[in-house]
Amino acid sequence: MFRLRLVQRRCFHSSRAVFSAQSNVQRNTLSDIAKLYDSKEKITVITAYDYLTGQMADEANADMILVGDSLAMVALGYSDTNEIPFDEFLYHCRAVSRGVENSFIVADMPFGSYESSTSKAIDSAVQLISKGRANAVKLEGGVEIAPTIKQLTQLGIPVMAHVGLTPQRSNALGGFKVQGRTLQSAEKVVEDALKVQEAGAFSMVLEAIPHKLAKIITEQLEIPTIGIGAGPDTSGKVLVQTDLLGLGNGHRPKFVKTFIEGHSLLVEAMSSYVSEVKSGRFPEYGTHTYKIKDEVLDQLMKRPRA
Ligand code: KIV
Repeated sequence: MFRLRLVQRRCFHSSRAVFSAQSNVQRNTLSDIAKLYDSKEKITVITAYDYLTGQMADEANADMILVGDSLAMVALGYSDTNEIPFDEFLYHCRAVSRGVENSFIVADMPFGSYESSTSKAIDSAVQLISKGRANAVKLEGGVEIAPTIKQLTQLGIPVMAHVGLTPQRSNALGGFKVQGRTLQSAEKVVEDALKVQEAGAFSMVLEAIPHKLAKIITEQLEIPTIGIGAGPDTSGKVLVQTDLLGLGNGHRPKFVKTFIEGHSLLVEAMSSYVSEVKSGRFPEYGTHTYKIKDEVLDQLMKRPRA
């Protein structure tokens, strides 16, 4: 039903230029996400980093699009997510928003934009909503970040939480390690999840935890869990777009499924272009060229040279 409505909206408002950049009225809302959760339909989230990747994820009917700070590494070549300055992140958020009509956009709060004080967090979140045109923000952390989540949600800013492996804290966690494997660590993830729910988060990412723990947490909560490296039983899934499309040529974590080998396919296409230009096979007369009337050419050639 939800899908059908999206398709109807897409057909009805076929003029992307008029509706997409100007307003958010067609995008999914929190109540659309809640309906998916209530009906137990899996919620799909794809990350996006610019206008084109936003547009593609939107056309693929992702329920939500995450402007993830993974963009620092996979789209901008930084060594970790903590390196991206807030303004640079905001710039990308704006670009994604211009490409998205239907999906609900969640923007990550980059490292350094929310930890030091609640007022800083509010200021950053307001910018991501007002200038970045996101519909919600995402913060990493559990118990310690719950008061900030409470403030933001009380001010009407929807918050997606993020517990389990929190990449922004990889220095403290000793790297990108699976969380929740020991009793103490599992208890912490459960406590974090309950506290961020209590603080008002509308959903939460569960990253890199054992799938049985993700199932227990999902069953205990009353808001959707969005898993990445958390198995099949979460309410929804998120994948990094460049992983999903096989665009990166580096390490692929165990939990990633690559749906197309994009990197090699695209490099192959570009190599074909390079060799066709070198050999003179592209562009072809007729197929890739514009015409001019012979009499215009004649007149041009007869003009006295300056
Ligand atoms: O930045 C990101 O892409 C994320 C997802 C992996 C959840 O936070």
